Amino acid sequence: MRELKTFFIRTYGCQMNELDTELMVGALKQRGMTRTEDEDNADLLLFNTCSIRDLAERKVMGKIGRLGRSPNRRSIIGVTGCMAMAKKERIFQKLPHVDFVLGTNNISDLNLVLDEVLETGTPQIKTGSEFEENLNYLDAVRDDPVKAHVSIIRGCDKYCTYCVVPYTRGKEVSRPPEDVEKECHILAAKGYKEITLLGQNVNSYGLDQPEWKELFHDLLYRLDKIEGIERIRFMTSHPCDITISLMEAIRDLPSLCEFVHFPIQAGSSRILKKMNRRHTLEGYLEKVDQLRQIVPGAALGTDIIVGFPTETEEEFQMTYDVFEKIRYSTAFLFSYSARKGTPAYRWKDDVSEEVKNERLHRLMNLHQRIVKEEMEKMIGQTVEVLIESRAKNSGQLKGRTRCWTRAIFAGSDDLIGTLQQVKITGCSHQTLLGELVPSRLNVI
Ligand code: SAH
Ligand code: SF4
Ligand code: F3S
Repeated sequence: MRELKTFFIRTYGCQMNELDTELMVGALKQRGMTRTEDEDNADLLLFNTCSIRDLAERKVMGKIGRLGRSPNRRSIIGVTGCMAMAKKERIFQKLPHVDFVLGTNNISDLNLVLDEVLETGTPQIKTGSEFEENLNYLDAVRDDPVKAHVSIIRGCDKYCTYCVVPYTRGKEVSRPPEDVEKECHILAAKGYKEITLLGQNVNSYGLDQPEWKELFHDLLYRLDKIEGIERIRFMTSHPCDITISLMEAIRDLPSLCEFVHFPIQAGSSRILKKMNRRHTLEGYLEKVDQLRQIVPGAALGTDIIVGFPTETEEEFQMTYDVFEKIRYSTAFLFSYSARKGTPAYRWKDDVSEEVKNERLHRLMNLHQRIVKEEMEKMIGQTVEVLIESRAKNSGQLKGRTRCWTRAIFAGSDDLIGTLQQVKITGCSHQTLLGELVPSRLNVI
């Protein structure tokens, strides 16, 4: 059997895919393979794909398609991730040089499938619809030495009408709290200071396993006790499942950061209903008010889709107005993209690309203005920053505040991985500029 020595892996899409890549890198290292950035000479090329919008799929199809035209290529090509689930066998029809397709529920079978490809020389596919909790999370190989992603729930049961995720990631499966806790202890012992709990909808944690009697906020109380983990974040949350207990946990737990990704998607209740978001504009605003009462100063993030089928100018204006009212500090803004297999695919995609782009730009400009105004308000304040690395272009140290705003400032390498107080002196392009406030520890 041919021996595979090196692999190249490219990740598309969200943090769930980034974590799955770290798990696959771990599995390939266990096999004795080494990672390379040399795409032309790697023995194995892996593409961990995303299907969320048409453009995401087209990018990766184009990339793998070009590889098929290179006559001297000897590498094995594998497609993993959400596109593997969305397209399954159709990938082989479009890209006959692909050697295997491995779905999101089967990444623990990576080495098995590779062996089958090597032994049989024929294309292999594994795209099971059920996730089995047998992933070896402890072997994940992480690039970042300060912050780590920790999976707590996989899949999504929400079925928003535009979204492929319930089909590409399957139904919700929570990870046992003891396993999550053990992994966090190990990460703390390795020196990690921040963990981000991951799931398409972390607030559903535990609902699929009522006998555990442990919901999302209970898990947070458990993890907050871990010595060494200074900051806990979570991504992402569905507004309809954000509870008062969660808001109180944010207020009460020292490690839990005061930033909530609270994706509204649209400002009109009619559009929200058509999206099957399960919340109205009024219900959403009520929750935001509750959060701001319980955790004053909490920063909010959002995702928004513009140009959903039948969205009128007035309805878009409602999205714009709610954005301006809430003043989100972080926003991921998208044009609607019709996805095969979703309920919305059957509806006419009737907002023109031109109108979608124009709405998107209006929101982007608003977002930029709000971010700038909010950052200017912070000038003169002193904030806590977790220092992550040295910025490539400016050479300064960089990190984030508890509310997830980027900050850069001068300082020495030994501060990387520590929490420091930084006085804000200015801002530029969504980044705070500052200077270290000498603490007893870093004054010589
Ligand atoms: N679970 C997360 C979202 C995961 S997908 C949540 O519910 O918030 C990330 C974002 O991609 C979504 O929030 C949505 O804004 C966007 N998105 C999903 N499907 C889309 C589509 N068909 N067209 C455009 N944007 C889409
Ligand atoms: Fe997609 Fe909705 Fe699930 Fe988020 S909650 S992953 S938008 S179906
Ligand atoms: Fe993309 Fe799948 Fe994430 S579709 S956004 S990689 S869950």
